[in-house]
Amino acid sequence: MFEWKANYSCNIEEIDNQHKKLFEIAARLYDLASLKDEYDHYDEIVAIINELEEYTVYHFAYEEKLMLESNYKDYETHKIEHDFFIKKIKRLEKMDMEEDQSNSVMKMIEFVADWISAHILKVDINYKEHFNSRGIV
Ligand SMILES: [Fe+2]
Ligand SMILES: [Fe+2]
Repeated sequence: MFEWKANYSCNIEEIDNQHKKLFEIAARLYDLASLKDEYDHYDEIVAIINELEEYTVYHFAYEEKLMLESNYKDYETHKIEHDFFIKKIKRLEKMDMEEDQSNSVMKMIEFVADWISAHILKVDINYKEHFNSRGIV
């Protein structure tokens, strides 16, 4: 679930690396949120959610810049997906983890990981040919 696989490759090294990093952050978040020890990991969880948000914003901006610069025809619809996801992460940030119980936090993390996978496989993958044919690899 939190692992980058070869079929996620968009054939652009920098973008593949950024996607790997997104999975790595999500996996860290999941592992931490699944700990069932006597400690309260609230602050660490919030810190990783912030890190995930920051990195996602960075990654989306990177893709959007490449799309704009190369007149990618599906830029608008792609950006709508990105904006939707940022809103979701912001909602995750606002969740009260002590009140909401870890169950709903775990559900949100699963949603985040699923969304990233599906977005890469169904949306990002579509720019592969477009970029590659313009020498972006
Ligand atoms: Fe992406
Ligand atoms: Fe994307």
